[in-house]
This record gives sequence, C-alpha cells and structure tokens, in this order.
Amino acid sequence: MSDATGGLVRWVELPSLGDERGELVAIEAGKSVPFPIRRVYYMYGSGVSVSRGYHAHRALQQVAICVAGSCIMRLDDGREKADVILDSPHRGLLIGGMVWREMHEFSPDCVLLVLADQHYDELDYIRSYDEFLEVLNAKN
Ligand code: TYD
Repeated sequence: MSDATGGLVRWVELPSLGDERGELVAIEAGKSVPFPIRRVYYMYGSGVSVSRGYHAHRALQQVAICVAGSCIMRLDDGREKADVILDSPHRGLLIGGMVWREMHEFSPDCVLLVLADQHYDELDYIRSYDEFLEVLNAKN
C-alpha cells in the first residue's frame, strides 16, 4: 500500500478543532483539500450487504470522508489494489482520476461525505471495468 505522499492511497488530514463542547472539523478548499470544491454529496442508509461505486472517473478528483460510522473503499489503479477502511471524520481519502473504486461493508450509521472538484458529469464516468483497463492501456 502506498504512503501519504503519492500512489494509490493518499490521505488528507482533517484535524479537529474540538474542545470540551465536542468536535468541529473545518475544511477549506485549496488548503486541507487540494482542489476547488465544486460539489458535495453524501451517502447514508446503505445496508451492510450493499456495494456501491463500481466506476472510475476520467479526471474527477474527490476526497471521501466517513463523517460517521465506517465503510471500506476498494481502490484499483490498474497496477495496485487497496482496501481502505474509512472510519474517521479526521481523515479524508483523496481519489484522483483513473482509479476504479468500489464501496463495501457500510455500517448502519455510515455517512460518507464526498467533496469533488467538478459538477456531476456522466461523461466523466467509466462504468465498465473492461473499458477502464482499455483507457488505462491506451494512456500507457
Ligand atoms: P451512482 O453513481 O449510482 O452512485 P454510486 O457511485 O454510489 O454507486 O449515483 C446514484 C444516482 O445519483 C445516479 O442516478 C446519479 C446521481 N448522482 C447525481 O445526480 N449527482 C451526483 O453528484 C452523484 C454522485 C450522483
């Protein structure tokens, strides 16, 4: 598995500004998240047997943060694969373009927040794994 400086698994640290009243995490585009944030979405209410994702993006950059509960993010860049547990509101997983991603094993309380650098665009999706490998091979 790669470290935080590059490669497939890249974390962004989101320190808590909490005190005795509770936790508070602030996220600023271009600071803790290394891109302009143009879209925010979140998933919740997925059962433990549900799997989601099964796509890559051609160019979209995202940071996924499990703000409650946990889930597994499976990443695959065609060379390396990694199963990453997302279970902390203090760490986001940075996922760049041309990474196949699947989400598995959502806890009942999971809320998965995603920050993205582009608006929703179905043309940026690659929803077939075979096509994903073809696009990767064409680039190399
Ligand atoms: P989908 O891509 O199937 O979710 P997942 O990647 O978790 O499997 O998205 C579900 C629906 O929501 C689909 O109809 C597309 C739509 N959608 C938007 O309209 N905007 C968005 O930003 C996202 C992420 C999805």
